[in-house]
Amino acid sequence: MKLSELSKLIGESPTLNLNAKTAALKKEGKPIVHLGGGEPESPAPLSAVEAIIKKAQTRQIKYSPTTGGVELKKAVCAYTKQNYGLDIGNANVIVSTGAKQAIYNFLLCAVNPGDEVIFPVPYWVSYPDMITLVGGVPVPVKAASGIEVSFEEIAKAVTPKTKVIMFNNPGNPAGIVYGADFVKKLVEFCEQKGIYLMTDDIYHQLVFDGVKTPSPFAYAKNPDNIVAINGVSKVYGLTGLRIGWAVSTNKEMIAAMGRMQAQTTSCNSDVTEAGALGALVGPQDCVEELRKTLESNRNALIEELRKIEGLNLTIPKGTFYFFVDFSYYNKDSNALAAFLLEKVMVATVPGASFGLDGYLRISYCASKENIFEGMRRIQWALDKKATGELKIGETIIKKDW
Ligand SMILES: Cc1ncc(COP(=O)(O)O)c(C=O)c1O
Repeated sequence: MKLSELSKLIGESPTLNLNAKTAALKKEGKPIVHLGGGEPESPAPLSAVEAIIKKAQTRQIKYSPTTGGVELKKAVCAYTKQNYGLDIGNANVIVSTGAKQAIYNFLLCAVNPGDEVIFPVPYWVSYPDMITLVGGVPVPVKAASGIEVSFEEIAKAVTPKTKVIMFNNPGNPAGIVYGADFVKKLVEFCEQKGIYLMTDDIYHQLVFDGVKTPSPFAYAKNPDNIVAINGVSKVYGLTGLRIGWAVSTNKEMIAAMGRMQAQTTSCNSDVTEAGALGALVGPQDCVEELRKTLESNRNALIEELRKIEGLNLTIPKGTFYFFVDFSYYNKDSNALAAFLLEKVMVATVPGASFGLDGYLRISYCASKENIFEGMRRIQWALDKKATGELKIGETIIKKDW
């Protein structure tokens, strides 16, 4: 029996694979430091936990409304008003199984086979495969210099086949916050050209140094071509709930996305929707606490990275990732990440997975202790002048490279 052609086009998720690999090594008792993770370590907000317990205690755990419960949608409308200054109603919201399903629903409704979808490099690992899965053609756009793509570089990649431009703000893996000038130009350009603009804003409150993530809706005359993606995974550290959403003033698009959802997952989990509602209507100080912790972790990581010779640092302004140019040591990021995992048991994600070789993504959503320990090992592994031995717990590692 042969697999479908489509199934052969889709690769495994490098980040989910890495999680599985590091978990297996940890289980074997290896003292792994995981600096490749994509989820905050913060405990779930109490309001979310209490709402889940309350829901479970009703002993009514059934199908929920296909596109999300009424109260949860209302909470998403309030969130949108507060964070984007946009007034919308429940018909402008679809709640999905994670931001990922919201993005799929959108792509399924926007892209015809052969349509081109533009996005900046470095990109979230899933974008190219997600576009391929819906029959689209991924068009990654690289900056001519540095790692921040300009509006002009994106505009230059547009062809008559361009159907969607999508970007992640702030961006995984480099923590780039695309500013008001970039967003305004992109919004005006897409509106004028009739191109869909999808903003994946899953990290939008996790920004540093007083920077704010601009709202694309602020610059549109008619924002019907804009779809904004959000969720509870990153901002509330609730990755396990699998609740995300899309909002748009375009009700026809939201309704079509709902039909896709009805025929794929039917609806979200009744229980985790209750948890997401708890998080959204509960006290919001957990978000600021997480943001502050991440900013402090990032600052600590900057200091550690500055101790390593030859690195080219672009300071992240948001998310919980640092995308570091390690090409001074090895231009092959897969080889370098494998070397660090094998020799000093530190997990990082190779830049090649995000479309830029020579880089490694280092997460600072880990504890400070893990960040310091991971960096101590990386510094030692890369420093040619470092002494011949490194102590990791009771284990002594000897340099054989
Ligand atoms: C840029 C980006 N978008 C979407 C997602 C997926 O979010 P969710 O867990 O809500 O599906 C992630 C998760 O890593 C991400 O980094």
